[in-house]
Amino acid sequence: MAGQQKGKLIILVLLLTSFGILTVGFMFSASDSKMAVNQPVNFPVLPPDTTMATLKGISLGRTLFKDPGLSADRKVSCSSCHQNENAYSDPGITFSRGNGTVHAARNTPALMNLQWKKSYFADGRAGHLSQTVVNAIQSPVEMASSISIVLARLNQSASYKKQFKKVFGTEDITEERLKRVFTEYLNTLVTSNSRYDTYSRKENLSYSDDEHRGMLIFKEKCTPCHNGELFTDESLRNAGTGTAADQGLGTLTGKPDDMGKFKVPSLRNIALTTPYMHDGRFATLQQVLDHYTGLKNEKGLDSTLYSNGTAGIALSSTEKKQLIAFMNTLTDPIFLKQGNY
Ligand code: HEC
Ligand code: HEC
Repeated sequence: MAGQQKGKLIILVLLLTSFGILTVGFMFSASDSKMAVNQPVNFPVLPPDTTMATLKGISLGRTLFKDPGLSADRKVSCSSCHQNENAYSDPGITFSRGNGTVHAARNTPALMNLQWKKSYFADGRAGHLSQTVVNAIQSPVEMASSISIVLARLNQSASYKKQFKKVFGTEDITEERLKRVFTEYLNTLVTSNSRYDTYSRKENLSYSDDEHRGMLIFKEKCTPCHNGELFTDESLRNAGTGTAADQGLGTLTGKPDDMGKFKVPSLRNIALTTPYMHDGRFATLQQVLDHYTGLKNEKGLDSTLYSNGTAGIALSSTEKKQLIAFMNTLTDPIFLKQGNY
């Protein structure tokens, strides 16, 4: 009996030891290649990470993001329109130049905090980040290529084959793998180091009176839609910007109730992502605020854009100045330098 128990104990000890070695081994390999999810403490908590992104995968995604060889004329990369030093937008340009002489149909949005988004594009038509990659490669007004052409080009490149092998173990370049490394890279575009963040996390409370007042006005009048630390509740709303050419969700679904509804954009880094709205109609934040105060009663206009039964958000010119001062604190200098390597 005693001998049997001793035997069992030895087996248990052996099992625990090997489990310990395995765990340590796993931790080492994890710290070696896996990339921890960037979860800023003031942001909504992300679901547990199942992507297992690796540094090599992210780096390959970044190389592809900057490679004009993915477009039909080999002149346009993702970063031609989404420039890192401008929060991955194309400042001052209403409709960015795509392949050849064409121009994109909407204003280029900033790319940031993408993991937290429930849908992508101004009409919310993509439910997964990888769809945006396919869209950009295949859209005739962006890169005007096709996944099969891109895969054929990449599979002819010794350098890319080597890099895919490093990430996946074999050198095949497939659509799944392409989407995967792009997504891994895009997920790293996290911006959470603006002066607003340091204020919100109580690390540095150095807001001027105007900035502070602007924040209070913002919280009172803008958060029905630009809500929370991401400055969007991810809904699609009618903010009075629909046109005959583009009714946002309505153009997509054809439903009368969807007309004029666009995705509520985040306002992080807003000072750098001119011009504004889905069609880049406004060059300045002042013009955006003049739009909100000057709204006219129209069918479908979001109910939160009425004050005392009259269309428009009530704001004095001083309040507008203070709101702009506040919005200027949403710029994250660290994020803008992130892609410079
Ligand atoms: C010609 C300019 C241009 C190029 C090149 C381009 N994009 Fe875009 N991108 C846009 C425009 C315009 C939109 C908005 C489209 C819409 O809302 O319908 C957009 C939207 C996106 C979005 C959605 C952002 C959001 O918050 O909803 C992602 C992600 C994105 N692009 C990634 C990429 C990637 C990855 C590439 C390269 C494979 C790329 N883009 C190439 C112009 C471009
Ligand atoms: C009813 C919801 C709603 C409210 C309230 C609202 N917005 Fe917006 N906002 C939107 C939508 C939707 C858009 C995008 C419209 C488009 O793309 O055509 C937008 C766009 C913007 C833009 C341009 C963003 C860009 O990247 O182009 C700014 C700046 C902005 N809003 C600031 C504010 C401020 C400041 C307030 C408060 C005074 C406010 N908004 C109140 C829904 C709202």
